[in-house]
Amino acid sequence: MQRKLPPSFYNLTTLAGAVIAGVSFGLILFLLLLEQFSETSKPYMGIIAFVILPAFLLGGLAIAGFGVWREHRRQRIGTAVEQHLPVIDLNNPRHQTAVALVATGSLLLLVFSAFGSFQAYEHTDSDAFCGQTCHKVMNPEYTAYSNSPHARVGCVKCHIGPGAGWFVRSKLSGAYQLYAVAFNKYPKPIATPIHNLRPAQETCEQCHWPRQFFSEKRESHTYFASDTKNSKWTLDLLVKIGGGNGQAGPTSGIHWHMNINNKVSYIATDSARQSIPWVRAVGPDGKVTVYQSTEHPLAAADVDEKRMRRMDCIDCHNRPTHILYPAARSVDNLMAVDRIDPSLPSAKNLAVYALENSYSTAEAGSDSIKTIINEYYNASYPAVATAKKTEIARMVSEVQGIYGRNYFPSMKSNWKAYPDNLGHMYFLGCFRCHDGKHVSESGKVLTNDCNTCHVVLAQETSGDTSRVSLEGIKFRHPVDIGDAWKKQLCNDCHNPPPGAKPLVTPVVGAK
Ligand code: HEC
Ligand code: HEC
Ligand code: HEC
Ligand code: HEC
Ligand code: HEC
Ligand code: HEC
Repeated sequence: MQRKLPPSFYNLTTLAGAVIAGVSFGLILFLLLLEQFSETSKPYMGIIAFVILPAFLLGGLAIAGFGVWREHRRQRIGTAVEQHLPVIDLNNPRHQTAVALVATGSLLLLVFSAFGSFQAYEHTDSDAFCGQTCHKVMNPEYTAYSNSPHARVGCVKCHIGPGAGWFVRSKLSGAYQLYAVAFNKYPKPIATPIHNLRPAQETCEQCHWPRQFFSEKRESHTYFASDTKNSKWTLDLLVKIGGGNGQAGPTSGIHWHMNINNKVSYIATDSARQSIPWVRAVGPDGKVTVYQSTEHPLAAADVDEKRMRRMDCIDCHNRPTHILYPAARSVDNLMAVDRIDPSLPSAKNLAVYALENSYSTAEAGSDSIKTIINEYYNASYPAVATAKKTEIARMVSEVQGIYGRNYFPSMKSNWKAYPDNLGHMYFLGCFRCHDGKHVSESGKVLTNDCNTCHVVLAQETSGDTSRVSLEGIKFRHPVDIGDAWKKQLCNDCHNPPPGAKPLVTPVVGAK
């Protein structure tokens, strides 16, 4: 046989390297071909096609190169043994069997690796891959998602999209994520917001058409106070979401920000976008109004087009699916439907205390919740503990359930780590701008009137008669705090910073 390459290329190491590189190259081509013909884009396929297989390809080439180098050196210093690739003689029956075996083996291997990479390719697109493969890391997001209105919308629909730009971007960050997980380099909790999330136009607006929004929505809330009786009170809000479009006439309401004709841009001074000193509204007539915080004004030099963000859905709906509920909210919800019996003394206070205590692991949390609740009733209400055994057991399991769905000690994740921007009770939310302290040059204040965004249709507090009116009634804060709720931000008291005075004194002595 005539040798076309330099003699140092002919050795077994180089041959093996070349085979590895060749097979990897073949598989990459196969995957790319598959991608061409598949109807849906498989975003994470890139990790295999552009990260894993090329690693093998390069590895193979490196091995082949090493073989050449070693052979070359051997020849130079004269220790080279004349290497021959095995001579195959097809007239020799033993060779025939060997060739048949090797050929069948290789074919099977090829078929299997093609099948294997096809499987991997399908799998990386699934929610199980996103949410469970990196189980511990994504567990908070996956769990919250599974219990949310978007549980059937795949992770990739919101996070990774088709199109060349997103392809490259998400592939690269995907590769980085794999690295971060493998080497335990990820932050706990995972940071939010995601700064390169796909724009809302390509995600939310594919399913929720911004011109077809609802007008108003009634939200009924039931709350229980942290007193012994768990005093109940209810609130009905008519939330003015706002709908309509250019043809139907002028639009108002909350989705005003999103009306195609209005553009709201803002500058945030922190990465979580919680502190917003500067806001600009551009109306349909091109009229520009800039609102500045009177409390924390932004220096004129810091007003830079590059730091501005155009407001979109995610600026309010930042937790559409990864919703981690505040303890008080979860407990109220379950008490309202009797899954936690409101006749158990101090049940609200106790449950919230048990949830908010900090625990090192999920198991420790779950066990301690049981101990705290049982010990409290045994010690303080022995008669209730005997008479309401089943109700207390049910309360334990419901509170443990809340804990499992909302608290993830191994990732340091819970509601406090993820501000929800949709309201204003536990986080600044709307009040990042509508705090009554953002004022334009002409003196116009960004509204924080209690009836602009919603109308209180009805309110009933214990000891008060029910008040109802379609025009809206005046809000009464459930516990008497004087005028504090008008002067102070709700979240100052309802989500106090670590170390500050808690909202209520727990019934169980502080730990
Ligand atoms: C309905 C759209 C949607 C779906 C479906 C979705 N996410 Fe998210 N995800 C978001 C938004 C919005 C954010 C917050 C982005 C922000 O604040 O900028 C986010 C944030 C995250 C974060 C960052 C940490 C955090 O909690 O803010 C992770 C991790 C994440 N998602 C993983 C997943 C996984 C895994 C799935 C599938 C099991 C999934 N997401 C499904 C919209 C979605
Ligand atoms: C693939 C389609 C799809 C995408 C993409 C999507 N949604 Fe949804 N969304 C739905 C469906 C379907 C529902 C209704 C669920 C139900 O009624 O239980 C829903 C419900 C909602 C609700 C009402 C939730 C509630 O409490 O009842 C909000 C708010 C919402 N989506 C916002 C968003 C935002 C913001 C995004 C972008 C980050 C988004 N959606 C992306 C399909 C989608
Ligand atoms: C200024 C903040 C803000 C922006 C921006 C915003 N929304 Fe909303 N949206 C709200 C509020 C507040 C509600 C009422 C929520 C409630 O009461 O549960 C709402 C309600 C909704 C609902 C109805 C939910 C339900 O419970 O039935 C959908 C769907 C929705 N928004 C989608 C979107 C989409 C898509 C975008 C982006 C085009 C968007 N929103 C932009 C604040 C906003
Ligand atoms: C980034 C700042 C910002 C945030 C955050 C914000 N808004 Fe606004 N909002 C504005 C600006 C700017 C205007 C326009 C004021 C003007 O010039 O008329 C506005 C106007 C409104 C209006 C009046 C629309 C009309 O009919 O004239 C409502 C209602 C409203 N916002 C509700 C909300 C709600 C609810 C939230 C929280 C879910 C929210 N906003 C969060 C900046 C913000
Ligand atoms: C800029 C718009 C805006 C203004 C101004 C505003 N709210 Fe709200 N408020 C909201 C939104 C949005 C929600 C969430 C709606 C929902 O889903 O229940 C909310 C929720 C609430 C809730 C229910 C809280 C919960 O999570 O259980 C109460 C109570 C409330 N508002 C009272 C007030 C009072 C009192 C004022 C006046 C000091 C006020 N709001 C001003 C937008 C606003
Ligand atoms: C000075 C502190 C303070 C401020 C400011 C404040 N609250 Fe409260 N709020 C309380 C206390 C204390 C309770 C009683 C909590 C309990 O008994 O569990 C309470 C209870 C509530 C509850 C019932 C909560 C639950 O878990 O059942 C709602 C709703 C509420 N407040 C709304 C608001 C709103 C809306 C604002 C802002 C407009 C606000 N509060 C401002 C101290 C405050």
